[in-house]
Amino acid sequence: MDFDFATLTPQERYKLLGSSITPRPIAWVASQSAAGVGNLAPFSFFNAMGANPPLIALGLITRADGQLKDTASNILETGEFVVHLVSEALAPAMNITCMDAPADIDETALAELKTVPSSAVAVPRLADAPVAMECRLYQAIPAGSTTIVLGEVLHFHIQDAYIDAEKLYVDTVGLDLVARMHGGGWYARQSDLFDMPRPVYEDWQAQRGKTSQG
Ligand SMILES: Cc1cc2nc3c(=O)[nH]c(=O)nc-3n(C[C@H](O)[C@H](O)[C@H](O)COP(=O)(O)O)c2cc1C
Repeated sequence: MDFDFATLTPQERYKLLGSSITPRPIAWVASQSAAGVGNLAPFSFFNAMGANPPLIALGLITRADGQLKDTASNILETGEFVVHLVSEALAPAMNITCMDAPADIDETALAELKTVPSSAVAVPRLADAPVAMECRLYQAIPAGSTTIVLGEVLHFHIQDAYIDAEKLYVDTVGLDLVARMHGGGWYARQSDLFDMPRPVYEDWQAQRGKTSQG
């Protein structure tokens, strides 16, 4: 089946993209308005984009009425936010915070989450998230009904239990992060992994040589 995206509605394109490009990591984004009203919401159009500068990207889609989501307007207003990663234990709370609460309601309180001050940004971070990244807006790219936000990570907090601080080994599996799958509410766990070392060209050639001779 070949779909010409020019003939589809944005909702139809979303269905195809969102249910195929999976699993997607979830950025649980804390921000605040210039007046200091806090906000928390999950976004799975999210990934790391590089390490120098250390960038993450978010795709923030406008609401059906064309208005920016609170997260987008806060980031554009203040230039600061915190991206948390979501463990399975925190998934029910994350789900509460995706509600379309009015701008003057802080979803952090709705989900009864504790916060602690951040190191470099005014937005507090969630106390219980396994990873929290304090970000400064690097670039905002308006793209039709999406605002693509590039954030520079200023501080990376990870709970002590999940890091060998000397070797910078992260206990990735221990973090128990969940990822967004398809449909309205499907998520994935990281409990079915396999290891596939990267081939080195010289070794690969040598191996092929041996096989063809043998
Ligand atoms: C797991 C999950 C992932 C989501 N990913 C996105 C996303 O990538 N982009 C987006 O605009 N909305 C996404 N949403 C919807 C927003 O979280 C939702 O619109 C929220 O109310 C926005 O809050 P805000 O207005 O406080 O920023 C997602 C929701 C969930 C539950």
